[in-house]
Amino acid sequence: VKKIKLGLLGGGTVGTGVIKVLQDNYHDIKEKIGCDIEVSKVLVRNVEKHRALSDMVTLTTNADDILEDKEIDIVVELLGGIHPALEYMLKAMNNGKHVVTANKDVVAQFGKDVFDAAEKNDVDFMFEASVGGGIPIITPLKQSLTANKITDLIGIVNGTTNYMLTKMAEQGMDYATALQRAQAKGYAEADPTADVEGLDAARKVAILSSIAFNTRISLDDVKVEGITKITPEDISYAKELGFAVKLLAVAKNTKDGIDVRVHPTFLPKSHPLASVRNVYNAVFIHGNAVGDTMFYGRGAGEKPTASAVLADIIDVARDMGKDRFGRIRCTCYEEKKLCPPDK
Ligand code: NAP
Ligand code: HSE
Repeated sequence: VKKIKLGLLGGGTVGTGVIKVLQDNYHDIKEKIGCDIEVSKVLVRNVEKHRALSDMVTLTTNADDILEDKEIDIVVELLGGIHPALEYMLKAMNNGKHVVTANKDVVAQFGKDVFDAAEKNDVDFMFEASVGGGIPIITPLKQSLTANKITDLIGIVNGTTNYMLTKMAEQGMDYATALQRAQAKGYAEADPTADVEGLDAARKVAILSSIAFNTRISLDDVKVEGITKITPEDISYAKELGFAVKLLAVAKNTKDGIDVRVHPTFLPKSHPLASVRNVYNAVFIHGNAVGDTMFYGRGAGEKPTASAVLADIIDVARDMGKDRFGRIRCTCYEEKKLCPPDK
């Protein structure tokens, strides 16, 4: 009986989350896929640091142990940053493996390279977790809202800065302590500069607006200002006047052109995005058929992000049992006995 094998590139916050959620929900996931599934190997830099995982998986510091392993069906890239994540994903696809990632840096800046490689090799490339942590947002935009002409997309898409701004406003916490807390909770990037300078949100809004407006929005098209200049005084003045300070990502498609930007904004307390607190994210989308829609949930963190990564993995794994017309070719679920013994 075939067992779907996963190779994880990265065993940090999200990688550990994927292992835990797969363990917690193993029987349901196996039932939904119709196949057994396991994380077989995990790439890390420092094996000692990740000893706790070694009872469950094989740890390696050599990416080729995963990328060249013929038994691994799906490579899950959770390293972060562009290099070597990009090269590893391309190599995995060239070796016939499906790729799932949470990496917005690569999708925003090298999307064309990875999509082309996926097409050339006839494999899946999935990236739901790259925006909004656990919130389903890429798949709804690509599928459920695709009949619409989308004109507006406005959101809070960075959990770290929303957590920091909430703590600064509600508890009078200083900027440095708020950032340290966000890092300790696993919300921030390995280098949190991308979070606080608005670059992480810019990458995410470039991805979302490219899908929403069906065109290529590059990072250079996004005007960016982060929260590094926001002082506790700004936040308390805003509060006194009935406003909340939020780092907004805004994308508008009007007859005068496309405008995409990220910047701190004074929002009236009555605005729905003003009440999005802590690590939560929310994305408001206006489509000409559906009208207003809003997506809300935890925008970062171990298990919420793993929820999105595993959704992509399950999607790919289910498709592995189908032919190109979507018909069930075989299933490896033993009891159903639909699969020839060699499949
Ligand atoms: P993390 O905690 O820093 O984990 C990164 C992992 O990758 C670590 O296990 C690290 O190994 C390993 N690694 C990094 N570079 C490596 C290299 N060159 N060779 C071998 N191993 C390497 O990062 P994370 O928070 O899990 O984030 C992973 C990805 O998910 C990033 O793209 C991030 O933007 C994205 N993401 C994160 C969140 C979140 O809430 N954290 C949410 C959504 C998306 P060592 O530990 O041994 O150094
Ligand atoms: N650093 C990111 C954030 C992780 O805080 O939103 C989720 O993409």
